This record gives sequence, structure tokens and C-alpha cells, in this order.
Amino acid sequence: MKNKHLISPMDFSKEELNGIFELAEKIISNPKEFSHICDGQILATLFYEPSTRTRFSFEAAMMRLGGKILGFSEPNSTSSAKGETLADTIRMVSIYSDIIAMRHPKEGSAKVASMYSSVPVINAGDGGHQHPTQTLTDLLTIKSQKGTLEGHKIGLCGDLKNGRTVQSLIAAMSRYEGTEFVLISPKELVIPEYIREEVLKRNNISFKEVENIEEVIDELDILYMTRIQKERFFNEEEYLRLKDSYILDNEKMAKAKEDMIVMHPLPRVNEIATEVDDDKRAVYFKQAEYGMYVRMALIVKLLGVM
Ligand code: NCD
Repeated sequence: MKNKHLISPMDFSKEELNGIFELAEKIISNPKEFSHICDGQILATLFYEPSTRTRFSFEAAMMRLGGKILGFSEPNSTSSAKGETLADTIRMVSIYSDIIAMRHPKEGSAKVASMYSSVPVINAGDGGHQHPTQTLTDLLTIKSQKGTLEGHKIGLCGDLKNGRTVQSLIAAMSRYEGTEFVLISPKELVIPEYIREEVLKRNNISFKEVENIEEVIDELDILYMTRIQKERFFNEEEYLRLKDSYILDNEKMAKAKEDMIVMHPLPRVNEIATEVDDDKRAVYFKQAEYGMYVRMALIVKLLGVM
């Protein structure tokens, strides 16, 4: 995997993904053993769009491997504000660093960056399109919490139209035997047609689309809640009308299976009541922790340092 880019979760085979998860599990059980493996290496984090978890987890991952970081979270303070093209920024940053993690509001920008980079580029989110490292996080969470990636009925709830985490997760989970999806969203925010046709129908994946969470919560093995993606709305009124479409609370949780897990890529706004945090089935904070370890494993693999 040395020197590969990660633009879409489908860039890696299932075997390569397994290799990343196995390494992440090793790091979790013995972090000290890995604390100098990236000595002398530099990760650049280029964040053209707001982020806390993703950027911090990349930076913490590199620091815990002994490497160093450089980058920005405020593009207005860089030459892109002077009109520098993404291609030129990437050419330059790939001279200064050994690996790049980039988040950008435009779909396809990570792909463009990878074409101009002499070092591996990791897509940390390109607009409403893909978010492959969140998917690695989600898969490791499912594997660790449920014991396997196969045979799960997964409810995805919220903004399925604009949510890049959902689109990446559907593509990735479609490769595992026995996956079924229940897509829960308001009519205005259903999943894009290309996912329905080119991923779900083409691969004969069982799925249904519903508006009401109560109707299906008792069937699910995994419930993946998402935020209504305010920044992707053109119309504020439409956002205000839809923003509280789903609020998961203890009353709804009472109807769910005893071993269903609740996931969320975070940040949460209002879609999971804080009372649910104490439910043992709520794994979203644990999920954020897996995110750091899986990024450590990913960096090690792409740099080829072991
Ligand atoms: C997600 C994202 O940026 O797409 N957050 C994250 O990376 N943890 C989800 C979101 O912003 O809703």
C-alpha cells in the first residue's frame, strides 16, 4: 500500500482494509511499540473546510507515531486567498511533507490533488462526496463492537442526500456479505440517485427507504445517525424546517434491540438527545477514538514504514 492515495473507500481491497484494521488493533493493544515508527516524517493537514475531530485525529495520530505535522485550518491565511490554484499548493506542500490529509468543500478536489502530489494524499472529505477515513473509522467500530462486518442490517438516518459519511459507508458496506440497509430520511433528503442505482441496485443489495424511524428501529443491528448538513443547503428556511426531523431519545431506544449499536460521525447537533449517551448501546464517542487509531494504521501503511 506504500505511496497509494486514499480518495474513495473503494480504493482499497477488502484484504487491504483488513490489514489496516489488524494493524489498528495492534496499535490499540500496544501503542508504545509504535510511538517512534514515524520519527522524521511530516504529515501536512490542509483543511479548506471546518473540522475538529478529523483534523485533530489526523494530527494526534501522526504525533503518537512520533512524526511531525504542518498545515492550516483556515485557508484565508494561505496563498489560496491570493488565488493560488490547488494544483500549485499541492505541488509545493508535497515537497515539504511526506503525506497529505486534505479536506475541501469541492467534490472531486482530493482526486485533483492526488494528480499533482508526489506523496500520498488522503481525502479527509470532499464536499458532499466521500469521506473514506470516516468509513475506515466506521468499519473498525462495527468490526470491534459487533465482531464481524458481515450480516448486519444498518439503518442510516438523517441527511442522506448531503452526508458524505453515509455515501462512503454505503459503498464500503455493500462489499460485505449479508448487508441490508434501511435508509431513513425526509423525502427532501433521500440518498442520491447514483447510490441507489449504481451501488445498491447494481450489487443487488437489499434496501428500503422510509421516513419514520419508529417504524423500523426494532429491526436494526446498527443505527447510524447523521446531522442535517446545514452548510450544503442553499435555502435557510428549508434547513430550519428539516433540521429537527429526527431526534433519537430514550423512548425510541426502548424499542430497539438490546444489542443494536448507535453510531454517529459527529459533530451532533440535535439528532441524539444527550440522555442516550449513557445507554451502553451508544458507541459514538468510542467511534471517535477508533478514528484516531485507524488513521495511525493508515499513515503507517501509506508511508510504508513497516
Ligand atoms: C463528518 C463530516 O465532516 O462529514 N464529520 C466528521 O468528519 N467527523 C460528519 C458531519 O460533519 O456531519
